[in-house]
Amino acid sequence: MSRSERKIDHIRHALGHDRDFHNHFDDMDIVHQSLAQLDFDQLSIDAQVGELNLSSPLFVNAMTGGGGEKTEEINRKIAEVASRTGIGMAVGSQMSALKNPEERTTYEVVRRVNPEGIVFANIGSEGTIEQAEEAVEMLQADALQIHINTLQEMIMPEGDRDFTQRLEKIERILNGISVPVIIKEVGYGMSRETVKTLKSLGVSYIDVGGRGGTNFSKVENMRRQKPLASYNNWGIPTPVSVLEARENHPDIHIIGSGGIRNGLDGVKAMVLGAQAFGMAGALLRVLLDEGEQALEDEILHIHHEVKVAMMLLNITNVNQFKDQPYVLYGKTKEWVDQRLRR
Ligand code: FNR
Repeated sequence: MSRSERKIDHIRHALGHDRDFHNHFDDMDIVHQSLAQLDFDQLSIDAQVGELNLSSPLFVNAMTGGGGEKTEEINRKIAEVASRTGIGMAVGSQMSALKNPEERTTYEVVRRVNPEGIVFANIGSEGTIEQAEEAVEMLQADALQIHINTLQEMIMPEGDRDFTQRLEKIERILNGISVPVIIKEVGYGMSRETVKTLKSLGVSYIDVGGRGGTNFSKVENMRRQKPLASYNNWGIPTPVSVLEARENHPDIHIIGSGGIRNGLDGVKAMVLGAQAFGMAGALLRVLLDEGEQALEDEILHIHHEVKVAMMLLNITNVNQFKDQPYVLYGKTKEWVDQRLRR
C-alpha cells in the first residue's frame, strides 16, 4: 500500500469505527428560560478566544495531513467551505511535510483558497522551534496547534516511544513563536493536572480534545496484529475535560472538542466553560459522504443551532454561555462529584 493509500485507509478507519455507546453530552441539560427578548436576525455569533477573533465559535479541527492528491483535495474543499461560511480551520499534522517539502502543497492550498480566513497550523510535540516556525509560515497561520497523543503513539506499531524532551520542546516553542500556541489532545481529553503543568510552562490556550467521538485507540488497533483493545475506552470525556480544565484556571482559554455531534453539543461545551468548539470526524463524514455543499449546509445549520440557544437563554454574545445554569446526570455527574466538588 502506498503512503497516500495508507492515509485514505486511516481516514476510513477514523470515520468508520463504532462510536461510544454513551456520549457524555447527553448527561447534561441547559436550564431553559422562557422570556426571550431578542431579535433572532440581529444575533451575532462572533467569538473571542484570547487574541483570536473568530466570526463563529465553530471551527473544523485538524484532520488531513501528509501528501497525496486525495488529502490535498479534502483540504481544498474544507478551506473553500470555511471561506464561504467564515469559520476557522486547522490542518492535520504538518510533520511529514516538514520532512518532505513536496508535501507542502497539501497545506499551501488551504491559504490559497482562503486568503483571509482563520487557519491553524499543526505539529506534534516532538517538533522543534524551527519546525514550528516553518509550519506557521507554510500557511501564514493565525495560530499553531501542538497535538499531544501519547496513547495513539503507544498503540501505533511505529509510534514514538520517547517523550522525555516533550515539555522542554513545548516551552521553547511557546517562548519563540509569535502566534498563539494551542496545546491539543486528539480524543483522550485533558485533566486539571495536565492543564496545571501546561500552565506552568506558559501555555494559555488548550483544546481539550476529549473522548466521545473519533477514537484513535480503535483506529490504530485496526493496524495491530495484537490489538491493545483494553485501551479502547481510555480517556476523559469532553464535557468533564472542559470542567477539569476550567477548575482553578480561569485565565486559560479553553476550546472544547472531541465527540461534538451538533451545535447543541458545542453550546453545552461553551456553557461548561469553552470559548469555542472544534469538530473533526462528524464534519469530514458529511464532506466525504455528501459533498461540499452538504458540508456548507451543515455548518450553517450548526450556526443556526447556536443562535437558537442564544435566543432561548436571552444572551447576545457567545461568551455569555459560560454563565448559564445547567444540570448534570449519570456518569458525568459522578465524575464531577468525585473529582471536582470535593
Ligand atoms: C484527526 N485528528 C488529528 N489531530 C491532530 O492534532 N493532528 C492530526 O493530524 C489529526 N489527524 C486526524 C485525522 C482524522 C481523519 C481525524 C478524524 C482526526 C484529531 C482531531 O483533530 C480531533 O482531535 C479528534 O478527531 C476528536 O474530534 P472529533 O473527531 O471527535 O470531532
